[in-house]
Amino acid sequence: MSKRYFITSSGTGIGKTFVTSLLTRQLRARGASVAAYKPVISGYSDDDATTDTAELLRALELPYTPQNVQHVSPWRFAAPLSPNMAAAREGRELSLDALVNHGRTQESQPHDVLLVEGVGGVLVPLNNTHTVCDWMVALGYPAILVGGSYLGSISHTLSAAEVLKTRGIALHAVVISESQECPVPPDETIATLKHFLPAGVPVVLLPRASHGTIAADITLPNLAELVL
Ligand SMILES: Nc1ncnc2c1ncn2[C@@H]1O[C@H](COP(=O)(O)OP(=O)(O)O)[C@@H](O)[C@H]1O
Ligand SMILES: [Mg+2]
Repeated sequence: MSKRYFITSSGTGIGKTFVTSLLTRQLRARGASVAAYKPVISGYSDDDATTDTAELLRALELPYTPQNVQHVSPWRFAAPLSPNMAAAREGRELSLDALVNHGRTQESQPHDVLLVEGVGGVLVPLNNTHTVCDWMVALGYPAILVGGSYLGSISHTLSAAEVLKTRGIALHAVVISESQECPVPPDETIATLKHFLPAGVPVVLLPRASHGTIAADITLPNLAELVL
């Protein structure tokens, strides 16, 4: 059975895609077979090579074709808004059942590791009834929580962790993706977080990569250790 993880975060633009892409590349470099999905994406355009979908396809070394886009991100919305609002602008509605069915189908594939990147933070609405947390509960995968190191990030990361705990979602690891603007060295943020996060949950620093490029940076820590 594949190992399955849901990559979530305290908010949007924190580093979920960066972590999912890095994990995918590092696991593949070790010879593991990896499936990586960003099932729901808002702010999507086919012409934009910087979308999460395009980045995950690069990490998977799959060509940027309509079929592969549909495979990695079946629910794409144009407006850069929470999925409930972005879908409504297109007269659509996202169904939790459909999302979970998609997950179950992927689970049946013979991969070593299955990675699902969420959308926005833990409580982003998918529709007017369900949030990302409901999706996580339904799938039942352990969470990799991505936080930042900006001023205010500690409360955001701990709030997200608290929500996961309340909803009974296993917290597998916390990755702190170094923010562009940090008031203190990120290690200090991590030391503080460790006082409040459950003992035994790894809290890993992902330093700010130069130019934000994932592929070229071999100095980044190997996150594969966290999931294998
Ligand atoms: N550790 C990091 N080093 C360099 N750039 C990063 C890092 N973490 C995130 N970024 C960049 O910050 C932006 C937002 O990150 P992203 O992974 O897209 O966030 P999310 O998926 O949570 O919305 C992207 O341009 C990404 O490349
Ligand atoms: Mg993303």
